[in-house]
Amino acid sequence: VKDLNRPVCREAPEILDLEEASDRSRFAHLIAGGSGAVEIHDSIDEQLRDYVKVLHPSCRDERRIGDEINELLDGCQPRDFGRWAFYPWSRRLVHILPPEPFGAVRESRNLYKIDLEERRRLRGFNVGIVGLSAGSAVARTLCLEGIGGTLRIADFDALDLSNLNRLQAGIHEIGVNKAVICARQMYEVNPYAHVEVFAEGVTRENLALFLAGPPRLDVLIDECDSIDMKFLLREEARANRIPVIMQTSDRGMLDIERFDLEPQRAVLHGLVGAMRSSDLAELTMEQKVEHVLCILPPREVSARAAASMLEIGSTISTWPQLASDIQFGGALVTVALRHLCLGLPLESGRWYFEMDQLLRAPAKPLNGSLRHQDDAPRRMSSSASRSFAETLVAYATLAPSGGNCQPWRFSLDGDALLVARHPTATESFRDIGGLASYLAIGGAIENAVIAASEHGRVVEVALRPQIGDDGTVARLCWDAAAIMPARSSERLALIERRMTNRRMGSSTPLEDDDAATLRAAVGNRVAHLELVSDLAARGRVGRILGAFDRLQFTVSQLHAEAMSEMRWDSEAAQRTLDGIDLATLELSRRDALILQLIARPDVAAILRTPGRGRALEEPAAKAMASSSAAGMLRVNGSTAAAFVEGGRAMQRVWLEATRVGLALQPWTAITFVSRLLGTPRQEIFTAGEAKELRELGKSLDEVFRERRDWTPAIVFRIFRAETPSVRSRRRPIESVFPLAKSR
Ligand SMILES: Cc1cc2nc3c(=O)[nH]c(=O)nc-3n(C[C@H](O)[C@H](O)[C@H](O)COP(=O)(O)O)c2cc1C
Repeated sequence: VKDLNRPVCREAPEILDLEEASDRSRFAHLIAGGSGAVEIHDSIDEQLRDYVKVLHPSCRDERRIGDEINELLDGCQPRDFGRWAFYPWSRRLVHILPPEPFGAVRESRNLYKIDLEERRRLRGFNVGIVGLSAGSAVARTLCLEGIGGTLRIADFDALDLSNLNRLQAGIHEIGVNKAVICARQMYEVNPYAHVEVFAEGVTRENLALFLAGPPRLDVLIDECDSIDMKFLLREEARANRIPVIMQTSDRGMLDIERFDLEPQRAVLHGLVGAMRSSDLAELTMEQKVEHVLCILPPREVSARAAASMLEIGSTISTWPQLASDIQFGGALVTVALRHLCLGLPLESGRWYFEMDQLLRAPAKPLNGSLRHQDDAPRRMSSSASRSFAETLVAYATLAPSGGNCQPWRFSLDGDALLVARHPTATESFRDIGGLASYLAIGGAIENAVIAASEHGRVVEVALRPQIGDDGTVARLCWDAAAIMPARSSERLALIERRMTNRRMGSSTPLEDDDAATLRAAVGNRVAHLELVSDLAARGRVGRILGAFDRLQFTVSQLHAEAMSEMRWDSEAAQRTLDGIDLATLELSRRDALILQLIARPDVAAILRTPGRGRALEEPAAKAMASSSAAGMLRVNGSTAAAFVEGGRAMQRVWLEATRVGLALQPWTAITFVSRLLGTPRQEIFTAGEAKELRELGKSLDEVFRERRDWTPAIVFRIFRAETPSVRSRRRPIESVFPLAKSR
């Protein structure tokens, strides 16, 4: 194939008309093998018969057919009739009818589906196709259906073996330019076609020529991979008022942009905002991914495509595409193009023609919400100092809780504040035995105790040895007589300032003094804090937590639970006043979009296969690498009381960290979920997953080697970073403390 580097290469057969002297001598030369052997295919008799049938559909009489053929030949030798097409790439010399009869026969089976007037218009429609993987199915279908005056096709890429799952081509064509292959195929169907090949693809330099020709395109089909080019194509198409059609081989997605009718229309339906192609050139690959995810929103792509996006670079090198999707796309675009050309309805917008979906009943959407409903508030009467209790509760509720579930309830009992676990918060897999709740309640109690002491009262905390049906965990008593005025205090300010920080850190080493301060904050025999700060140990913790995250985001019950905590926008966070506000995750826009992919249960189910889902491991590894230390707090036993004490200790550590300017993020579902092992609820795991989880627990014990006879309660990272950009919300006090008035 010559001329691949010229912008326009006409990869066409030679059409020889033996009535012309020069063509006759060229024909004789070819036949004689003057330029190498040729393969001759002469089926002109059959073609003539077919033409007679087209002209006289009811004619069955062989004699009459013979007469009609003779009339068509008009004394000409059959060999010299019509044309000969010489295909240089296959060295075939093929005898064909003249252009008009050839078209009439070839397209005779279109009649009534496409009438003659429509045929005329379709044949004059100039079509440009950029990207000849998916585009080749479009091109071939158009060609077969007789659509297209000039077909201008562009691709710089050559065929490789991995294209042969979806591209119609032969193994002998590996290494040949895809546009060239496509042009050849079209010419083999219709030697009179007019195909222009841009074998170096469309570039900034040749785009004007590609669109404006002559002839000017009537429609542009975008099947290219590059996001930059998608923008550029549209900007130029819009400037030339050329409509754009794009088919994406997932869920039969079809995009129509009628720039012919709407020259002010935002490109790509405005999904990527006011972005221009010139802005894209500046962007990194990461930022481009973000824009791709705007065009293919995470909630809308098929589960398999979504899962595959997360596997690129891990188990696959690029995204998958199926022949069925590509062929279907070719058909879809052809129909859309027919509508466009013939003035049938075709609005701008996005459609889904989802074959898989049409073939089965709609998949039931997984709700997966295990979140409890609030109970009706219990009313209690007490003569105790309600406003003091309210103050304590106000600080108590600023405590951290897993998934911001705020598992606490407060009530008055004389001059005592009862702290209970929220009565319905029992089902969660990550709160097995309520231990995560008790940890949170411990933090709330610690806050209350600090708040009381800053208000001049000593509070005595009596933990219930057994948690009864009412869920009461502790009783906080104070001496009602000794009321001192409230003072503003650094410790109260710390309670207010403490937040979970999920930013990346600077990974500056943890100073010995700071480590000692944190250890001292634990302060007693009820909990033990171990910090590891060297890179290798943090790396191990990152790998362990990452592997656990993969499990928790793929095992369906854990996934459902984790995702039910998510509040995807501030409106949802404000409505529920609990859960994890997406904004508190401090994700880039791209990573937030990726999280939406992961959030889908159907995607998670696909990733739940050994070897997959490695992308889910990365955040933990990155976070630990950017930290100053990883920490583990162990508690003495596995009782509610041990975890409440652990929660108090953890809160002291966190407040001290806040005081010395250290950020802290728990990363700790593993310590709770591991407790499912050996219980009947272990059945949510496959045997392989259970084994992996057990091994992860052991590995964690190998990093945190101190006091291994105690129970791991919470794992976290410590680092230096800016303060979080948003604060998590809390339910109003009156909803957790029924006696409290609305403030
Ligand atoms: C027991 C427990 C487990 C937690 N686990 C995680 C965790 O795995 N990842 C995380 O980012 N935050 C975790 N957190 C932090 C909570 O999500 C956070 O405290 C809650 O959303 C309230 O936000 P705040 O701490 O900023 O007030 C955990 C907190 C507690 C008390």
